[in-house]
Amino acid sequence: MNEPRKLHIKSYGCQMNVYDAQRMVDTLAPEGFVETAAVDDADLVILNTCHIREKAAEKVYSELGRLREAKDEARRAGRALTVAVAGCVAQAEGEEIIRRAPVVDVVVGPQSYHHLPQLLARARQDGRALDTEFPLDDKFQHLPAPRPDTIRARGVSAFVTVQEGCDKFCTFCVVPYTRGAEVSRPVKRIVEDVRRLADNGVREITLIGQNVNAFHGEGPDGRPWPLGRLLEHLATIEGIARLRYSTSHPRDVDDSLIAAHRDLPSLMPFVHLPVQSGSDRILAAMNRKHTADDYRRVIDRFRAACSQIAFSSDFIVGFPGESEEDFAATLALIEQIGYAGAYSFKYSPRPGTPAAEMPEMVATAVMDERLARLQDLIDRQQAAFNAAMVGQTVDVLFERDARYPGQIVGRTAYLQPAHVLAPPDIIGQVLPVAVDRLERYSLIGQLAGPQQIPPRSASASPTVSTGA
Ligand code: SAH
Ligand code: SF4
Ligand code: F3S
Repeated sequence: MNEPRKLHIKSYGCQMNVYDAQRMVDTLAPEGFVETAAVDDADLVILNTCHIREKAAEKVYSELGRLREAKDEARRAGRALTVAVAGCVAQAEGEEIIRRAPVVDVVVGPQSYHHLPQLLARARQDGRALDTEFPLDDKFQHLPAPRPDTIRARGVSAFVTVQEGCDKFCTFCVVPYTRGAEVSRPVKRIVEDVRRLADNGVREITLIGQNVNAFHGEGPDGRPWPLGRLLEHLATIEGIARLRYSTSHPRDVDDSLIAAHRDLPSLMPFVHLPVQSGSDRILAAMNRKHTADDYRRVIDRFRAACSQIAFSSDFIVGFPGESEEDFAATLALIEQIGYAGAYSFKYSPRPGTPAAEMPEMVATAVMDERLARLQDLIDRQQAAFNAAMVGQTVDVLFERDARYPGQIVGRTAYLQPAHVLAPPDIIGQVLPVAVDRLERYSLIGQLAGPQQIPPRSASASPTVSTGA
């Protein structure tokens, strides 16, 4: 029996990459690879990269610089270290990566992970291997299903990709180029995945996709199902206490999704709905295909269907041509909607995207100043949202041991971390917590009232990976 080979994988970017990293581990397990947290004793290092902003993409090269030293050191010690670059930088830059960083042995794009074993073999033989095709067959059909022990080790909350790629072509964004055209997985396969996860102790499923609510996977009736219908179906699977989805696009919010929020208690009332800007002029230049008012109307429809619903969003400041007036419209929109949180970014020109060619780049100092103002407003909204939880009793899905001995940490419907002193067997359960106080972003409280859901025999182990 050969010694297991050790695999270290480092992911950047979105939840999609977190999920893909797990699937790469699953793909390499039959090849004798086990995951290691330490780069130092790895036989294979995979950088699972993100191309969304310049900073994210450039990180890869500094990491590769460090890996060159690690590879030399391994060679001196008589070991071989294989370096692979996966993810969206691999897709966008392809061979250029090997040219810039000869330390790289394998370059593999996001749609080709199922070829990893063959690529590693080819790299051993030829010194290098590259695959950035967009194959016509569905990679998911070729990826092995995660094993029960792996699922349990990953904890009570899991991602399931239901949709990939994007046909929207916002002018600032690389995703349509790095992930390719939009495709949805068939409902049957998604249901199989969710059942397997539920059978092994997973209680919360987040359906993910770059445009998750553009989902139109083939249903058992042979027709395309919208996301709302999929959620309704998944809500009937035993053991699944919570459903979420991310990231949704305002243009693809249809009646089925609104109805799902009205009808499904297990669908969490927390929606990430990026808007990017509150200025119609900028939204048009971004090719978002919606106005600020369209967005407001979408928010109203959600709120009418579910009164406890809360929102988070993404914002870009300093898109080419953004004036002070445009920016003021963004702040006004934020004031009006009231968010539970948001991600905000300075515009970063990406090679090959239309916005990168636009004149009127906004000066960095102006971007910095706008970003600070926007983040200040969001921080205040988030702090108020969190503070409003104090004194309330809220449902928490317990995930793992907290750092503080005896404490267990879980998450509320709004993904706020919540800590209680309790025995570890509450992990995997959704229980009401009386919130006493707030410590930074965490709610501190105590278990209130009886258990709502009986403990499951396949209770998950106390580790969990949550998304970026
Ligand atoms: N599919 C999602 C978002 C994908 S990228 C959607 O359509 O909403 C995640 C976020 O990164 C975007 O919402 C946007 O706010 C930000 N982003 C994308 N490209 C960017 C760029 N070139 N510069 C700065 N931020 C960017
Ligand atoms: Fe990018 Fe726009 Fe597609 Fe989102 S909808 S992935 S921002 S092109
Ligand atoms: Fe980044 Fe690719 Fe996700 S560019 S944000 S890892 S889709």
